Amino acid sequence: MAISVLQKARAAYTPKLPPALKKGAIVGIKEGAPTTSEADSEKIQELFPNNFGKPQISFTQSSDKSVLPAINAGVILSGGQAPGGHNVIAGIFDGLKSLNPDSKLFGFLGGPSGLVDNKYIEITAEVVDEYRNTGGFDMIASGRTKLESEEQFEKAKKNCEDLDINTIVIIGGDDSNTNACLLAEYYAAKDAGINVIGCPKTIDGDLKNEYIETSFGFDTACRVYAELIGNIQRDANSARKYWHFVKLMGRSASHITLECALQTHPNITLIGEEVFEKKQTLDEIVTYIADVVVKRSETEGNFGVVLVPEGLIEFIPEVGALISELNDLLAKEKDAYGRLKGRSEELAFVNHNLSKDSSYVFSSLPENIKIQLLLDRDPHGNVQVSRIDTEQLLAEMVNLRLEELKAEGKYKGSFSTQTHFFGYEGRCAAPSNFDADYCYSLGYTAAALAGAGKTGYMSSVQNTDKAAEKWECGGVPITMMMNMERRHGADKPVIKKALVRLDGNPFIEFQRHRKTWAETTDFIYPGPIQYFGPSEVCDQITKTLELEKKSE
Ligand code: FBP
Repeated sequence: MAISVLQKARAAYTPKLPPALKKGAIVGIKEGAPTTSEADSEKIQELFPNNFGKPQISFTQSSDKSVLPAINAGVILSGGQAPGGHNVIAGIFDGLKSLNPDSKLFGFLGGPSGLVDNKYIEITAEVVDEYRNTGGFDMIASGRTKLESEEQFEKAKKNCEDLDINTIVIIGGDDSNTNACLLAEYYAAKDAGINVIGCPKTIDGDLKNEYIETSFGFDTACRVYAELIGNIQRDANSARKYWHFVKLMGRSASHITLECALQTHPNITLIGEEVFEKKQTLDEIVTYIADVVVKRSETEGNFGVVLVPEGLIEFIPEVGALISELNDLLAKEKDAYGRLKGRSEELAFVNHNLSKDSSYVFSSLPENIKIQLLLDRDPHGNVQVSRIDTEQLLAEMVNLRLEELKAEGKYKGSFSTQTHFFGYEGRCAAPSNFDADYCYSLGYTAAALAGAGKTGYMSSVQNTDKAAEKWECGGVPITMMMNMERRHGADKPVIKKALVRLDGNPFIEFQRHRKTWAETTDFIYPGPIQYFGPSEVCDQITKTLELEKKSE
């Protein structure tokens, strides 16, 4: 395989590990107090009797020189790509080998479906070495199949038995780790002898809590987007003729957008959670943007940058209510809807079956947005917000508003827009030093959890705002992060998404500066990720993590 010069140099990078793992994945174990769930604990306990209430675990270095029996483990990459996934696998591999050199790691191909359909490769040293410190999930590829039926669990069990696998590591986001917990519970109830461990992955940054400080990939993806935003800002400030509307990935939470704003100081940043909290209407958002455009046209010029989180659309209360009605309707009337012929029948069917309010909102949207709202849900029942052109919707609506203001003599500027969507550009980037280290440590920790025979735990590495010598690692019971939520028209146990907290330091910091950023041109141009050079440029942590840690 041909590789770039950078890739060759990065292959030689040795990721840092927490002290507890420096001598291998045989570790001392400290158990905390029994835990409960995020909410709805009675229901979660009833659904997960074998996993609910387990203690948190932290690891200490062990001087134990014994060799554990060989472990065969399977690993799955689940959901959207995130920089560092290959390093998690490298960490699992090296960790398992440290337990016993005869341990084996199998990679199930194409996500959870690989486990069910028995599509796998053995991950050997040769395979791992080719992918160390690289971006992407291409070593074994990913997929979004939801593991939830007994039939799937049984097929997976048979496949694990055939390979003598006693531990499955699922590397995924909130939905995939929910699946991991369901699988762990099923196998525990059946006494199947298969343990399931989760790893917190997602560029969206919304799988975090007191013990999971950040999900991997968030750091690298945000740095890539911040570099691109910085470049656009410099272009905007050079040409002074465009307003750039930039939509940023993040299926629901606005963490990516907030982090990019803190790194680049754009003129306008919309935060979905704030829109929801303040019950802002689409009209109010458009008015806010138009006001800033008018003001800047009188002072700085006819240019600027607007950041739009892709999840914004669902947070606008009237649109959110419409989407949740649509989700329920499309789930309930799946067959009738499937029989409809063509767009106009579909639109008429939807309009007819929606409540009066939602039907009004739906009718007021441009045709392309209506169609995008009806596209297939993902396997977890979520609307695919990456396919909704919110940035174009806003640019068009602001343009209309400015034309009205112009007609009233309240605006004399010119308004030309460029729209962008940054998501796929960052999900497979070569991991930053932070993600390379963090991912390798998460994987190695997962191997230690496997060695300790644990199930239903998520691999956790803490103190990540400090140097790796201060990192602490262990496991957090997945049930601890769960609550009940409505999905596909039914109440389901799921890991609670961590949304942007309006009382959290990152948002407060943004709030403190946003007026200045809107009225002036205070852009920051962060430039590309640095992999080599002084530690202060290579080993940065996200502003989000830095500010969140300040509040502890
Ligand atoms: P995960 O939650 O699986 O990590 O995926 C997140 C994400 O990257 C979102 O930001 C985005 O909305 C979505 O995946 C896009 O999905 P797809 O890769 O299926 O287009």
